[in-house]
Amino acid sequence: MTGADPRPLGGRVALVTGGSRGIGAATVRELARLGARVAVNHRNSREAATAVLDEVRAAGGEGMVIQGDVRESAAWELMARQVREQLGPVGILVGNAAMSFPRGSFREMVWEDFHAKLAGELKAAFCGVQALLPQLVEAGDGCVVLVSSALARTVQSGFVAHGTAKAALTHFGRYLAGELGPVGIRVQVVSPGMVQTERTATLPQDFRERLREAAALRRLALPEDVARVIGGLVRPEAAFLTGTDTLVDGGTLLGG
Ligand SMILES: NC(=O)c1ccc[n+]([C@@H]2O[C@H](COP(=O)([O-])OP(=O)(O)OC[C@H]3O[C@@H](n4cnc5c(N)ncnc54)[C@H](OP(=O)(O)O)[C@@H]3O)[C@@H](O)[C@H]2O)c1
Repeated sequence: MTGADPRPLGGRVALVTGGSRGIGAATVRELARLGARVAVNHRNSREAATAVLDEVRAAGGEGMVIQGDVRESAAWELMARQVREQLGPVGILVGNAAMSFPRGSFREMVWEDFHAKLAGELKAAFCGVQALLPQLVEAGDGCVVLVSSALARTVQSGFVAHGTAKAALTHFGRYLAGELGPVGIRVQVVSPGMVQTERTATLPQDFRERLREAAALRRLALPEDVARVIGGLVRPEAAFLTGTDTLVDGGTLLGG
């Protein structure tokens, strides 16, 4: 009896936006573990992105660090060219970069801040997929994963900008799945609940504790919990899966 292929993404090239820390860094490690050559995107944190790539290389993997603000179409054109030249055609795009967002109620929010979050999330996905479309087709079984949020499905005080932008991103993913399926590109959305990252570590302890108790699995997610789901969605075994929205929240929104 033969075991499962330990490197099902062997020969594939994956670009992960916001790969320098948090869910993105865990996704880079996971896709590399599955055999992909990884392009680790960051905007400012070159050192952190390089450290992630060093880990990948130490484990026998390959890749590159690639700087670029994912909200800029020119940056996408450049990144697409650089990754193509150095690693080959991108077959897997993980749109993960965390666009900062204003917290506050609708009454307190100004349009400019709301709009910046909405435009940032959507422009990153729009320009990224457009810039890489020829490569995703060329690579075969092109896979796009957009990292959305459980807050796209529910309502939490102070998250009107983030939740609305992520809901738009999730639905954009469905449109992409419908339009790009015929050219062999699969598009998935992954929607995490709160994940323990540097960013969420500063949230008040009692808030984190309430979220932990609300989860059926009675713990908060680690970045690796999300990364493994992303790895599963882009494996060749998932070849008939597209247009999905996978909630990774430990059973917090059961029935909701
Ligand atoms: N953490 C959670 O609880 C949680 C829950 C649900 C969904 N999510 C979603 O999961 C994704 C990752 O979140 P995270 O918490 O892991 O993020 P994080 O730890 O804050 O890391 C953010 C990453 O995004 C990069 N980034 C930010 N703006 C960028 C830009 N304009 N262009 C390119 N890269 C940019 C950062 O790089 P630089 O440092 O170089 O800027 C960094 O690598 C996000 O889409 C987030 O909305 C997170």
